[in-house]
Amino acid sequence: LDGVFADKTLAGKKVLLTAGPTFEPIDPVRGITNISSGKMGYALARACRDAGAEVVLVSGPTALAGPVGVERVDVTTAQQMHDAVMARAAASDVFVAVAAVADYRVANAAEHKLKKQGAAPTLELVENPDILAAVAALPNGPFCVGFAAESQHLIDFAEAKRQKKGVPLLVANLVQTAMGSDANEVVLLDDAGSHPLPIMTKDEVAVAIVRHLARQLTASQG
Ligand code: CTP
Ligand code: CA
Repeated sequence: LDGVFADKTLAGKKVLLTAGPTFEPIDPVRGITNISSGKMGYALARACRDAGAEVVLVSGPTALAGPVGVERVDVTTAQQMHDAVMARAAASDVFVAVAAVADYRVANAAEHKLKKQGAAPTLELVENPDILAAVAALPNGPFCVGFAAESQHLIDFAEAKRQKKGVPLLVANLVQTAMGSDANEVVLLDDAGSHPLPIMTKDEVAVAIVRHLARQLTASQG
């Protein structure tokens, strides 16, 4: 993929990304999480870097090495990811939400390890903040790119999500195709409609997304 970014389409731009899962503790040794390798988000961070951007990657727990030349901020929970993003969003030109954020956390995580008792415990869940929606709602906020991982009705569900969160660009993929794989097949959704991309490596998908978002960013800035 060397040379594809000779034009440095994101030169001078600050890009903030989220990647990986979040982990919501139940007690010190247990928790609720989403399945996410972080590969797509890390590939996008590298593609933005290669396009000349200054990149900050807010990452949930993954097994991946931090990309060279990218500032990585490690977080565990959705609330920590939210706080790390909101502290940096206003100073960013682009925000790309790739993380598989846990929608709920446990209301009162136990300080000590839960012991087995007679009856199975009941977990009380509370909703986590929607990081992408919060950034998209900022006045004069960054250009926002969202992801939608769906297991069915891909385009309908993803386009509804794009409208609801108010983001100009959303990347839709099927969980069956994307999860854990080095390849991905995505559809880009924007105001002009849907743009299906062929199945490619996540690095190649990332390059295609960066090209698309750089064009939209230029257009939106007149
Ligand atoms: N997202 C986020 N914060 C959350 C939940 C989701 O920033 N608390 C972001 C994801 O990073 C992704 C997009 O929102 O870019 C869509 O996430 P997804 O889980 O597909 O959508 P939800 O709005 O959570 O809806 P649902 O899980 O019910 O399909
Ligand atoms: Ca969700």
